Amino acid sequence: MGGVVMNDHLSLFRGKKVIVTGDTGFKGSWLSLWLTMCGAEVLGYSLPPARDNDHYNLVGLSKIIRHIDGDVRDHGLMKKIFSDFDPEFIFHLAAQALVRYSYNEPKYTFDTNVGGFINVLEVARSLPELRSIICVTSDKCYLNKEWMWGYRESDELGGRDPYSASKAAAEMVFQGYMHAFFKEKEKVGIASVRAGNVIGGGDWSEDRIVPDSIKALQRSEPIYLRNPSSTRPWQHVMEPLAGYMMLAAKLYNSPKDYSGSWNFGPGKNAVNTVHDLAEKIISYWGGGEINIAGNEGGPHEARLLHLNCDKAFYVLGWQPNWDFDRTVKETTLWYKDVWQGKPALEKTRGQILSYMGGE
Ligand SMILES: NC(=O)c1ccc[n+]([C@@H]2O[C@H](COP(=O)([O-])OP(=O)(O)OC[C@H]3O[C@@H](n4cnc5c(N)ncnc54)[C@H](O)[C@@H]3O)[C@@H](O)[C@H]2O)c1
Repeated sequence: MGGVVMNDHLSLFRGKKVIVTGDTGFKGSWLSLWLTMCGAEVLGYSLPPARDNDHYNLVGLSKIIRHIDGDVRDHGLMKKIFSDFDPEFIFHLAAQALVRYSYNEPKYTFDTNVGGFINVLEVARSLPELRSIICVTSDKCYLNKEWMWGYRESDELGGRDPYSASKAAAEMVFQGYMHAFFKEKEKVGIASVRAGNVIGGGDWSEDRIVPDSIKALQRSEPIYLRNPSSTRPWQHVMEPLAGYMMLAAKLYNSPKDYSGSWNFGPGKNAVNTVHDLAEKIISYWGGGEINIAGNEGGPHEARLLHLNCDKAFYVLGWQPNWDFDRTVKETTLWYKDVWQGKPALEKTRGQILSYMGGE
């Protein structure tokens, strides 16, 4: 990592065996690449990438890590793959991650996000070398009271749509397994992590504002906004990932001090409207326009939710690096540069290096 400020906790991953579930997804592909840059040996377990132009494919991750096509609902296969690899770290990210899709496929969403979650913890119980487990849920695990205060880790869980409810349920599973089975394992630390909407290069998921905006700009069409005044706590995908890695390293060294649930949200100035986001994307893209489209009759969408991250800040020493402007700038330029021919691997690695270097 020549010339890079390599944080202490990241150097811990050198030579370590790490399993990432959901490595073919948006967050998992960034995390897996980043871990390899820290010297980790990564095995990914998830469904194949959904699209040709997914970040996983664009950066050629299948040539950089070992990937197994596997379903988290398949306990037998997971047990075999995980046991054979015998990891020290697990980052569990695989999930049906879309709220709107969860209305169409509630059973699949619960089977994957709750049943798959149980399978990971069940298999993890039997892994002899395992030291550190990060279970990714969501800020949507909190019962959204549509109030102005940030949610703390001790706040009530709940969800009014299948996705949110599945993440709240996964949190209950996490608590049950942590207290019943992992507390007695002296060398194993386990945490659930709750982050909000993340943005960054290479996400092409349906129904997400950044990919939808970029697709519109590439076609020289207006960006359609359903809920322009909705506020969201925007953060770059690397922000929570940095938190997850930092926490995983702390769990490795002091498992009992850091086990539990953690929020990883952006700073206060990052809570902005969908309209603000679209305007900034247009400015860094270098042109484009916005059209406001109504959402009459659409499914319920929560209006306001942000996280209180005092615990991560004071106990872990984690804080976001990039403000809203930088976050949107780097995200938009990722799509623009890659669209104009820059190799995606070079672009992502460059952004990770500049983030790690504190730039
Ligand atoms: N992206 C966000 O803004 C955001 C916000 C909060 C929480 N999260 C959570 O972070 C995690 C990663 O999200 P993402 O944005 O990368 O999602 P994504 O949809 O891009 O990726 C999901 C990953 O899970 C895998 N997967 C889905 N169903 C599976 C199954 N049945 N078996 C095996 N693998 C399966 C997919 O193959 C893929 O690798 C998820 O747990 C998601 O709920 C994401």
